[in-house]
Amino acid sequence: MSRPPGHPVSLTEFEADVRAGLSKADQKELYSKYLYDDLGTALFEAITLLPEYGLTRADLRLLDGHARELSNWCVNLSTVVELGSGSGEKARRILPHLVKTGPLTYCPVDLSGAALNRCVRDVDDITGLKIIPIEDSYISGLASASKLRKAETSMLVLFLGSSIGNFDPPVAEQFLIAVREKLKSGDVLLLGTDLVKDLDQILAAYNDPLGLTAAFNLNLLLRINRALGANFDVRQFEHEARYNLADQRIEMHLRSKSDQVISIGSGFTVTLKKDETIWTESSYKFRPEQIRSMSERSGFSCEAQWIDEEWPFAQSLLRITSLHGDRRAGLIE
Ligand code: AVI
Repeated sequence: MSRPPGHPVSLTEFEADVRAGLSKADQKELYSKYLYDDLGTALFEAITLLPEYGLTRADLRLLDGHARELSNWCVNLSTVVELGSGSGEKARRILPHLVKTGPLTYCPVDLSGAALNRCVRDVDDITGLKIIPIEDSYISGLASASKLRKAETSMLVLFLGSSIGNFDPPVAEQFLIAVREKLKSGDVLLLGTDLVKDLDQILAAYNDPLGLTAAFNLNLLLRINRALGANFDVRQFEHEARYNLADQRIEMHLRSKSDQVISIGSGFTVTLKKDETIWTESSYKFRPEQIRSMSERSGFSCEAQWIDEEWPFAQSLLRITSLHGDRRAGLIE
């Protein structure tokens, strides 16, 4: 179901993905990375402020709690790379502490030039910090950042916000292996992951009373209308977020309120029955030990794990070990 967000796409690829996903016989689906056009990104940022969505605040609380400690884990640190930096709000919490140990380069990696501009503005008053924004996909941006640093220095990679939870488990592991491939001995990865929690708490986070998550979900149809000349009527769909207990994930769907036929560009139509859904996102929730075992299978050892008790959320500090011989890296750009 999930392709990694952060993979740059052309209009042709977007159209091909939309057509393929909506042609599926059993369950129609759209990749969650397409939720993030300019409006989708703004809606997601608004979601992070909702009282019901505690995930981002938990991530920030954890950073505030161990920012000072982080530098003890990084010897000869020269570079901090943040994958999917967004506005830079998270890095802002730790960079002032890390820069105290010596000159530091911060490389935010994001596909959105607008987000990178905001990010640079947010951190450029930190003395001693050099900022090199990289407008690219995660792995390719990480490779560029790694090449910029001096030999014998180490790199701290941040992958926060539980973005890894939007990948299906095999893709999440491939992603970690691909990150691992770009790292050298001494480098560390700080990984943020949302944890399994009380069902009502999870469901409320994805079914907020203001309807921001619904708007975030429905905007995907508007994006398809705008970019591909489709004629979705968003009033004919409703947002649905359900928790799949066995797979430990929230599934976001768009439920059709009626039997309908939608045309997408010329010569392509999609038929939806009343109550049929389009699956738009999975958001996996983890148990702390699952993060450790996933890391180990991907060539990392988990050296520290911080957990927020108010909104169960973990940040895990991963250091590289050896890659298993039979695993292929480099599958994700
Ligand atoms: C970006 N990602 C970690 C969010 C999540 O919670 O899975 C995206 C999101 N979807 C609905 N609300 C927020």
